[in-house]
Amino acid sequence: MVSFKELGLVNTREMFAKAVKGGYAIPAFNFNNMEQLQAIIQAAAETKSPVILQVSKGARNYANQTLLRYMAQGAVEYAKELGWEKPQIVLHLDHGDSFELCKSCVDFGFSSVMIDASALPFEENIALTKKVVEYAHQHDVTVEAELGVLAGVEDEVAAEESHYTKPEEVIEFATKSGCDSLAISIGTSHGAYKFTPEQCTVDPKTGRLVPPPLAFDVLHEVEKKLPGFPIVLHGSSSVPQDEVDTINANGGALKAAVGIPEEQLREASKSAVCKINIDSDSRLAMTAAVRKVFTEKPAEFDPRKYLGPARDNMKKLYIHKIVEVLGSDGKAE
Ligand code: G3H
Ligand code: 13P
Ligand code: ZN
Repeated sequence: MVSFKELGLVNTREMFAKAVKGGYAIPAFNFNNMEQLQAIIQAAAETKSPVILQVSKGARNYANQTLLRYMAQGAVEYAKELGWEKPQIVLHLDHGDSFELCKSCVDFGFSSVMIDASALPFEENIALTKKVVEYAHQHDVTVEAELGVLAGVEDEVAAEESHYTKPEEVIEFATKSGCDSLAISIGTSHGAYKFTPEQCTVDPKTGRLVPPPLAFDVLHEVEKKLPGFPIVLHGSSSVPQDEVDTINANGGALKAAVGIPEEQLREASKSAVCKINIDSDSRLAMTAAVRKVFTEKPAEFDPRKYLGPARDNMKKLYIHKIVEVLGSDGKAE
């Protein structure tokens, strides 16, 4: 058993309270590899932004949970070395699917866990979340829960209104489960294909697909029911079209990839939404940079020569998100 406090990590409690009050959101970036982690920490240290490092099931399978945890521990020391005296870094389990997994992360030094029981019936979701909360809180680890179903990885169909979080359920859910934050479904979804072309309109000037707006009415209803309660948005990549274009111009084949417009995330950040999850955009930034090097320097075979530019491109993306979209810069001086 190791406490996250010994590793220099923090939980989300104070961070979220400040973010809700201050009208900004904390970036939650997934990581699977060293370059991604370096880029996240460099971006957070330079902008003095609190940051959440997320470990998904896919990341654990790919990189190993133990290794990722030690990397996060190393990240705290790296942040200090970069001149960030008091780094505010959370190590968070993304989409935990069982009590046992959440417990193992709590015991292993994670400072925050998500129990995603959103696919279960309402009462079962409450019961499982409550069980995780009771254990996690004994160790001061904060718990994110989810109510409503996102399209994408959690559901094979495209976003439909019937999957949105029902505002009339949130008070009972938050009270009975005791969760510290709640992920809701208002039209975001995972991955780089968040909407089908049929769900979009076409911008006559650019020819680009314009997705339908997020259900801000649902978000505002939730805020009214749970004033000041921390709300989380998953599936919040914007799928930058310049990165998609670079990928496609260099041998890629991403067709009709579309994300959440940044203006809408900016608006959400000013509300009770205090954690915004971004993974796919980082994947696109990494892939675009690697493909460009492969096209321009076909004789190159030193991985540092393409993973280095990939790291720089991800860092640029993370700084952009922090400063221009979420507004979390300067909040962890
Ligand atoms: O929740 C979705 C995240 O983007 C993680 O995806 O399981 O492929 O790592 P992954
Ligand atoms: P994106 O696929 O939109 O980046 O969402 C990531 C996410 O929600 C991780 O939990
Ligand atoms: Zn997610």
